[in-house]
Amino acid sequence: MEDLITIHVTDLSGEEHQIAAPTDMNLNVMEAIRANEIPIKATCGGMAMCATCNCLVKSNHPLPEMSEDEEAMLDEAFVLDIDGSRLMCQIPVSDKIDGLQIQLGELTAE
Ligand code: FES
Repeated sequence: MEDLITIHVTDLSGEEHQIAAPTDMNLNVMEAIRANEIPIKATCGGMAMCATCNCLVKSNHPLPEMSEDEEAMLDEAFVLDIDGSRLMCQIPVSDKIDGLQIQLGELTAE
């Protein structure tokens, strides 16, 4: 049986979604959100090269440290709340982020 975690996503219209994501498929949060048919742009497909998968992390989960690429991308994208912002494609789906709460960023709009 696959292991599932829950991710709470607030979309741009303020609607809350609760999605289940498998931890054994090597997914990242951006892919898990797409798989649940929440529309997001994610133009570069997860390469940390576009920032159209940016989000604001609202919970205190231990996330992997930001790479230089991710930091530069968020910086260039003029994301307002740079401290709480991450690229969803750079956050692996794992047990550590069960219950994660995120708000989609404006750049994600399709
Ligand atoms: S999908 Fe492009 S940076 Fe995440």
